[in-house]
Amino acid sequence: MYPVIQRCSQRFVKHLKSTDAAPIVIKDYTSGYTMDVIASTAFGLDLDVQETTDHEFIIHAKKFFGIPTDDRAVTRMKSFFNILNFVLIPKFIRDFFGLFVDMSFAGLETTNYLERLAHTVLDQSKAQNEKRNDFISMCADKVVDLGEVDKDSIRMTEGKTWTTQGLTRKDVMANAAIFISAGYETTASTLQFFFYLMAVHPDIQDKLYSSILEVADKNGECPYEDLKKLEYLD
Ligand code: HEM
Repeated sequence: MYPVIQRCSQRFVKHLKSTDAAPIVIKDYTSGYTMDVIASTAFGLDLDVQETTDHEFIIHAKKFFGIPTDDRAVTRMKSFFNILNFVLIPKFIRDFFGLFVDMSFAGLETTNYLERLAHTVLDQSKAQNEKRNDFISMCADKVVDLGEVDKDSIRMTEGKTWTTQGLTRKDVMANAAIFISAGYETTASTLQFFFYLMAVHPDIQDKLYSSILEVADKNGECPYEDLKKLEYLD
């Protein structure tokens, strides 16, 4: 996966260098970069989502996390109430109303989109029989069908069925979705604060830059095995 992340980092630098704006909103860039890494490492999408900000994947990934997909007041209110709904309304009430209306956090359309995407990546990976470096493709040979596994391998947790013999397609999709829900805002905000701190502490930025140059090759890249040598960054 490391080369995939390196490609996203190169695109991040390219986009930063290409802007004439000053000052810039660094969060827009760190969010784009994080989404790019998630799209390629979790879902195997080979596209520059840092540039294609209106790509279907980004819209649904934002919805999945409860982030407003545009600046309109109505969209912002909807996201806010959606989050409130999940924090304040007990699950059994949501389950009851869910019998009549769509009460899922991200909305049925988004859940279906991510499910379809996971299915497509799994099918492609099986059909092409080539080794791809994204999370979903790496799960492909562990995928089983609940209807075909041994009955005594089937378990039930909180009303959901799973098996000890492998991963169902739903398990794979749900774990890939965790990359979005757990990895998106956390990583984008951490990077945002990192760049802010580097900007207000140029002496530390210089020291860090020099320490990276000592490890980097002539193209400015750090091979994966050498990352642990970046002690100051750590
Ligand atoms: C800088 C980035 C990140 C920060 C600051 C962060 C922070 C955290 C924190 C504070 C927790 C709660 C730990 C606890 O309950 O004790 C957590 C849990 C978790 N994070 Fe992250 N996280 C980051 C990135 C990621 C990424 C990239 C992923 C997935 C690809 C991820 C997946 C998870 C998962 C699955 C859990 C739940 C673990 C459990 O069930 O106990 N996180 N994270």
